[in-house]
Amino acid sequence: MATERTSLFIFFGGTGDLAYRKLYPSMFNLYKKGTLREHFGVIGTSREKLTDQQFQENVFKSLGVAKTDKDAEKFVSHFVYEAHDVTDKAHYQVLKKRADELDKTYKLNGNRIFYLSLAPSFFGTVAGFLKTEGLTDTDGFDRVVIEKPFGRDFDSAQQLNDALSKSFDEEQIFRIDHYLGKEMIQNIEAVRFGNTLVESLWNNRYIDNIQVTLSEKLGVEERASYYDNSGALRDMVQNHIMQIVSLLAMEQPVSFTDVDIRAEKVKALRSLRVYNVAEASTNFVRGQYGAGDNQRAYRDEDNVPHDSNNDTFVAGKLLFDNYRWSGTPFYIRTGKMLADKFTRVDVVFKKPLIDIFSFPQNHNAPLEANVLTMYIEPHAGFTLRLNAKTNGQGFQTEPINLDYFVDAKDSKATPEPYERLIHDVMKGDGTNFSSWQEVSYAWRFVDQIRKVWDLQQPQFPNYTPGSMGPAAADELIQRDHRQWVYRLNK
Ligand code: BG6
Repeated sequence: MATERTSLFIFFGGTGDLAYRKLYPSMFNLYKKGTLREHFGVIGTSREKLTDQQFQENVFKSLGVAKTDKDAEKFVSHFVYEAHDVTDKAHYQVLKKRADELDKTYKLNGNRIFYLSLAPSFFGTVAGFLKTEGLTDTDGFDRVVIEKPFGRDFDSAQQLNDALSKSFDEEQIFRIDHYLGKEMIQNIEAVRFGNTLVESLWNNRYIDNIQVTLSEKLGVEERASYYDNSGALRDMVQNHIMQIVSLLAMEQPVSFTDVDIRAEKVKALRSLRVYNVAEASTNFVRGQYGAGDNQRAYRDEDNVPHDSNNDTFVAGKLLFDNYRWSGTPFYIRTGKMLADKFTRVDVVFKKPLIDIFSFPQNHNAPLEANVLTMYIEPHAGFTLRLNAKTNGQGFQTEPINLDYFVDAKDSKATPEPYERLIHDVMKGDGTNFSSWQEVSYAWRFVDQIRKVWDLQQPQFPNYTPGSMGPAAADELIQRDHRQWVYRLNK
């Protein structure tokens, strides 16, 4: 049985899609595993008017269990509800009273987690009132969890952070990036720092380039009003991709703790080259999907303006100006409505300097580069491509794959990102959350690309649904005499 954790949770945006779809089911998993047992309480809040009982029924339904499930019944009995206007100071007194009651009922030692799953414009207001109205005034811990997006550029992110910092210290702030809760993203550190074979080659002497692909098959769905003001660069690159890249690029941390890991990620991000106008135009490509078979163009989606120049695809080349990576580019790409839904990292090693097998009489195909592929989702695993002798007479070589895949049983038992992340917040472990410094360096980099794009009129739409983005994304890497490891029709 897991160690029991004790805390009150107050969910702002407690009747939202994220809460019902991800947060409550994840908490229920923690309950079944014993991380949550007797000593927890939950207050859901939003503008909606609900009784405690109605809220409990909704939460119960969100768990997807049989009506007779006794565990689920006990679990939801810890939930109460308060309709709440986040801008109304007086309401925080009502919340405080309720929080104090639950604290007593479940013996929560004053531990509180405030989960803000709301429009970011309210983050500062809520954080401010939590402090001035005394909700944070307890003997236990107070932690605030912030859902993305954390700002829409460096300036707005800084304002947001300044507002939060008035009520909470950096170590009390947990900025969610759900990619950091994914099993295989966490495996990057294990594979790098747990293997001499890998880490000793993990530099510009042996690695030719690294490719990170976050490909999505779906389009904008019903989120157009958010997405059209964000675009792929802000929605996926600033956060998820920058986090993955910093884990790939960082130096070995002094210890496996949040403080030391974050320090190394920040150091890596500080050495990421921030592009000038010419570099940004050359090294980044944007795209927007047009119409396809049975698929309307992005500009024809509901709630998208017909002349929208929003990016639904980004590809780019990132360069680190440091001793480890100078000269080894990181190529990234992400987009909606692409060929398939998957996330992978391809680490392409340099070819042997001399290919002794390719003498004229031998007609052997030139040696291929070794590639370490980390499959993040939907299948979790690795492939290491090596060159080996073809079985039989003569001496030919061919690439072979060493594979490891998490089997179906283990993959079913893999915790959902939110389950891990909620657990981490209860433990007070910030490793898998974005620190302010990480967020700020990522925005500084992304802002520069955005600025350049805002000055230029794109030729949209420029890719078809089901492809891997615009031709320019292939040209970007071909210009460097390289190609994407994952390509269609290969
Ligand atoms: C979210 C983005 O952060 O990540 C979405 O806002 C995107 O646009 C989603 O679809 C992808 O996450 P996952 O876990 O499905 O790869």
